[in-house]
Amino acid sequence: MSQLFTSVRIGRLTLPNRLVMAPMTRSRADDAGVPSDLAATYYAQRASAGLIISEGVYPVAMGKGYVRTPGIESDHVAAWTRVTEAVHARGGRIFMQLMHCGRISHPSLLPGSAPPVAPSAIKPAGQTWTGAGMQEFVTPRALTVAEIAGIVEDYRQATRRALAAGFDGVELHAASGYLPEQFLSSGSNQRDDEYGGSAANRSRFILEVLAAMAAEAGSDRVGIKISPEMGFNDIVDAAPEETYTYLVDQLRNLKLAYLHVALFGAKTDYHALLRPRFNGAYLIGGGLDQAGAEALITDGRADATVFGTAFLANPDLPERFRQGAPLNAPDKATFYTPGEQGYTDYPALNTAEAA
Ligand SMILES: Cc1cc2nc3c(=O)[nH]c(=O)nc-3n(C[C@H](O)[C@H](O)[C@H](O)COP(=O)(O)O)c2cc1C
Repeated sequence: MSQLFTSVRIGRLTLPNRLVMAPMTRSRADDAGVPSDLAATYYAQRASAGLIISEGVYPVAMGKGYVRTPGIESDHVAAWTRVTEAVHARGGRIFMQLMHCGRISHPSLLPGSAPPVAPSAIKPAGQTWTGAGMQEFVTPRALTVAEIAGIVEDYRQATRRALAAGFDGVELHAASGYLPEQFLSSGSNQRDDEYGGSAANRSRFILEVLAAMAAEAGSDRVGIKISPEMGFNDIVDAAPEETYTYLVDQLRNLKLAYLHVALFGAKTDYHALLRPRFNGAYLIGGGLDQAGAEALITDGRADATVFGTAFLANPDLPERFRQGAPLNAPDKATFYTPGEQGYTDYPALNTAEAA
């Protein structure tokens, strides 16, 4: 029998299968960060996932980094409640991913057209998509220690609101070069206070945020996503093995529900390095296919496997895997465009189901 369809415990939840839907930004909220009713349809269509991880959601307005991304401030709770109710009505489970973009943003997306905030005033190389097309990243403003404490508190409040909206848990987005990884990485963090310098100091922000999230939700409803050596968004660390070893050793004390590791082109085998050090469920994502996922579970290298684009294009991915059915191809042109096209119109095997 396929091991992908065995149940697995992740924190407080028992997942009916080991196929997790990856967090994916879809840029279909309104300009105030409110998810649309289409989001409820989109996620409910994918409720057969063992667990859905939502798109990245900003915990506070200064954390927004892309047009039409959603938030979880007070004004957003009602709309998210419709999403979680729709997923639960279809028998699914959903975590919210909290994503503070830090310097990977643009004044045109931020309150008062303020510059983005970051551990240090270091401009990332590259451009970002704004309402007015592609624009250069700007030099961010370095956070004060008091402001850092405020952002930790923002994550706590966001966690409280996510739970109020009916989410089964929360994931900290500490991957892909956003604020938590900006603190963690020596290239973007040149602070000389307790948040910069050593691996311990650079890990401090992530550990404080996770502790705040766990204080609200219980540690068994909190996960973290990391992507060592991915390099996305101009993130670089001088000694990533040492940094991630330190971080994951510290995570043990928090007794989190899971560690979600997405690897893209890393030279080090971080799964071999990190999994033995972690004490919760270990999730692997990034470029998997069914056979690869099956092998990871069979060999005991992961507790669950995470699929992004395959879930985006196949609302009934678990059933397709079960049947060995062909997969719909993802359409990149509609990953981030408004509306139903490329969002809620990918057909299920039984297309009546998808409607
Ligand atoms: C359209 C799109 C949006 C994404 N947005 C996010 C995001 O908001 N948060 C995140 O952690 N990863 C994001 N990712 C990365 C995915 O979670 C996942 O790591 C990646 O797609 C690799 O898995 P795959 O090869 O199965 O697609 C995104 C990926 C795609 C394709």
